[in-house]
Amino acid sequence: MPATDTCVTDALHARRSVRAFTDKPVDPALLKEIFAAAQRAPSGGNLQPWQATVLTGEPWQAVKDAVAARIAMGREGYEPEYDIYPKGLTEPWEARRFGVGEALYAALGIPREDKAARLARFMDNYRGFDAPVMLFLHCSRIMGPPQWSDMGMWLQSVMLLLVEAGLASCPQECWAMYGATVRRTVGLDDGQILFTGLAIGHADTDAAVNQWVVPRVPLDEVIDWQGF
Ligand SMILES: Cc1cc2nc3c(=O)[nH]c(=O)nc-3n(C[C@H](O)[C@H](O)[C@H](O)COP(=O)(O)O)c2cc1C
Repeated sequence: MPATDTCVTDALHARRSVRAFTDKPVDPALLKEIFAAAQRAPSGGNLQPWQATVLTGEPWQAVKDAVAARIAMGREGYEPEYDIYPKGLTEPWEARRFGVGEALYAALGIPREDKAARLARFMDNYRGFDAPVMLFLHCSRIMGPPQWSDMGMWLQSVMLLLVEAGLASCPQECWAMYGATVRRTVGLDDGQILFTGLAIGHADTDAAVNQWVVPRVPLDEVIDWQGF
């Protein structure tokens, strides 16, 4: 591989979903540089369909409070934007989804039967794992699958640039389960659809949850080489 690719490769290996952050604030000037660079992400027809709302301090706390109030309502409180996973997810994807959850709880020493501890761990999501900054990624509701893929490319660009800047992140589509609440609280109208949150901050490198590296399936499960 040419030497010029090394930085991207390093960032790809170093990035992971970080689920515990320190309270060290994030420099907004650095974030601005990162977003400016991420504008180079490609998009079909150069639509650049991604839009983001970036919060810290009181506006971020207001979202956490609003979503906590909806969670307290139980199932009545759900305001999902979309199905996070296809209904009736089949193999091999269901095993991968199940496996990552089990491995996360195992890394934290939480046994399967301890439902309360598992739920508490999941609920950490709705504090953004105590990250000082939350980015909500959304787009116009008229956009379809190609533009959602463009949003993904932008998101990965941002996550890799954060790594380069010494910052950490965790993408969080769980916020879409309370998507309308998030949108109302941050002032987005119904013409927008919330894709995901992205918790941003400095990794708490001592936290047990951050020691765990999620494996990937072997290449032959995803690449079909033809004519080589
Ligand atoms: C769009 C998107 C949404 C995600 N949503 C969540 C989430 O709500 N909560 C969470 O803990 N992890 C979430 N993740 C993280 C995935 O679980 C993680 O990317 C996957 O297990 C691979 O681990 P890694 O990112 O550490 O390599 C999300 C990832 C992506 C790309």
